[in-house]
Amino acid sequence: MPDSRLVVTIDGPAGAGKTTLARRVAAALGVAYLDTGAMFRVAALRLGPDAPSWPGPAIGEALAGLSFSLRGAGSDTELLACGESAGDEIRTEAVGYLASTLATLPRVRAFLRQAQKDLGQRGSLVAEGRDMGTVVFPDASHKFFLDASPEVRAARRTAQLAAMGKPADPDEILADIRRRDEQDRNRAEAPLRPAPDAVIIDTSALDVDGVFAAIMDHVGQGRRAPA
Ligand code: C5P
Repeated sequence: MPDSRLVVTIDGPAGAGKTTLARRVAAALGVAYLDTGAMFRVAALRLGPDAPSWPGPAIGEALAGLSFSLRGAGSDTELLACGESAGDEIRTEAVGYLASTLATLPRVRAFLRQAQKDLGQRGSLVAEGRDMGTVVFPDASHKFFLDASPEVRAARRTAQLAAMGKPADPDEILADIRRRDEQDRNRAEAPLRPAPDAVIIDTSALDVDGVFAAIMDHVGQGRRAPA
């Protein structure tokens, strides 16, 4: 029987607009939204700042028992870690950088890759991350890679934090973004890069509506019904 699941992947660097777009596309398609960056952040909180120097087996042990599930669909999809909603404490720059450091470790990647594939087995979804189109869902129905200059991404992140009542120094945000880019693009395993068959969209000069329209235009071509 042909597989009727719809998997749309949206990869790209921090601040390229993946989250906003992935939520919106998931809502439009009526499927779940998977934020794989949040899974790396949850793992970072669980392991803590000393984990990068631990031997592989200790990391494996600390991750054992960590399970993920999705509740709901569209922009309201909730990522649950061990049945609990992943809280706001994963959303700091420090946790983001620790997540990026841990994301260079093969043990951590292998564990989360399997968890992501398992979630993909359970139904249609829009998956956001760095290696969704290249590694986790190489057979995805539609693949997108969103990019924008570091300056534009830093300005967006600064505005986002201000809107959340957490004003931040724009120069520090730009430095954080460059540091994370460097680490994400240059790691040996699953480095950040577009899949050969991904549609690359530079969002620097586009607003959210423009990017959404471009994505839905591609998804509309040869669209398959969600499971
Ligand atoms: O997307 P977000 O910024 O929340 O991701 C945090 C970090 O997790 C990224 O900087 C990246 O290093 C890592 N990550 C990854 N692969 C993914 C998703 C996130 O390596 N699929």
